[in-house]
Amino acid sequence: MDPTGAHGKIAPSVSRDGLSIKVIDQTALPSLLRILDLSDIAEFEECIRSLRVRGAPAIGVFGAFSLAICISNGMGPDDAYSRLVSTRPTAVDLRNCLDLVLAAFREGGPEAALTEADRIREDIERSCKAIGEHGAALFGEGVRLLTHCNAGALAAPDLGTALSPIFHLHSSGKRPFVWVSETRPLMQGSRLTAWELSIRGISHRVLVDAACAFLMRKGLVDAVIVGADRVCANGDIANKIGTLDKAILAKGFSIPFYVAFPMSTWDPTCPSGEHIPIEVRGPSEIAVCGGERVAPDGSECWNPAFDTVPAELITAYITDRGVLKRPGKLSILPR
Ligand code: MRU
Repeated sequence: MDPTGAHGKIAPSVSRDGLSIKVIDQTALPSLLRILDLSDIAEFEECIRSLRVRGAPAIGVFGAFSLAICISNGMGPDDAYSRLVSTRPTAVDLRNCLDLVLAAFREGGPEAALTEADRIREDIERSCKAIGEHGAALFGEGVRLLTHCNAGALAAPDLGTALSPIFHLHSSGKRPFVWVSETRPLMQGSRLTAWELSIRGISHRVLVDAACAFLMRKGLVDAVIVGADRVCANGDIANKIGTLDKAILAKGFSIPFYVAFPMSTWDPTCPSGEHIPIEVRGPSEIAVCGGERVAPDGSECWNPAFDTVPAELITAYITDRGVLKRPGKLSILPR
């Protein structure tokens, strides 16, 4: 399959086909573009847990489709909801989208649940486009941006969040340059972000996570732009482990630090970063690399998948409503 479609756009990372979901298996990239066709709850749970589908809004859309399909197949809505919501705890998009589908089902039955899941997908797609337009206005010709993890089309249908302004700049001929931190341990930066930039022909360079301080010190970064897994009422965010380092460094080197997110990632019920549940994943993701052990059998590993960034380190939030310069401004967002 041609991943780039007619206009350099990646095939949708998540889409519904009747009562099944077509999803790009992100664990196989960049070597293989494999599309999975999934239709039952056990497959849906495995797909989220193993990060075949990943990125907060993509998980939300996938969860919405999953719940609507399970309900349509006669599964108890509460059972399906609780199995799906517990697959990954940090990205609030999953819970937000499941809540909307469940409410639609209670109102109008299985058909309404499917319609709501489709609406959620379209809404996120529209938001990502608007984020691209608002975000691009912040940057000039040849801007050099650093991003972490993957917040592109794979992570948020159809243009991504943090990468959407970059795609917009690129298609308007503004020649952005992107530094991509590899994002240990699962390499979402080098495997996925670099892949998305490559297939669109956007200039970029991959670097190890530990090189970011030196990169900034050398004056090679104009701004940092990342996505989020949850944005709290006070403006704190959670994102991929290693995001906090970049935010502290950006402050230290007086570089703007931007966070792009759609409404599915907004959690006004969560007062601050300290209240965000942080997913801790298995040790083998750290201790085994490319099938080889890279830490002794006896060494324990600690593998938090996310960290939290306090609002005071964030220069501005790029949303579908525009660029919000202070955390207090987040109060204009819907509750
Ligand atoms: O563990 P992952 O790969 O799902 O983590 C993803 C991230 O941290 C992304 O930066 C975040 O979900 C934003 S995606 C638009």
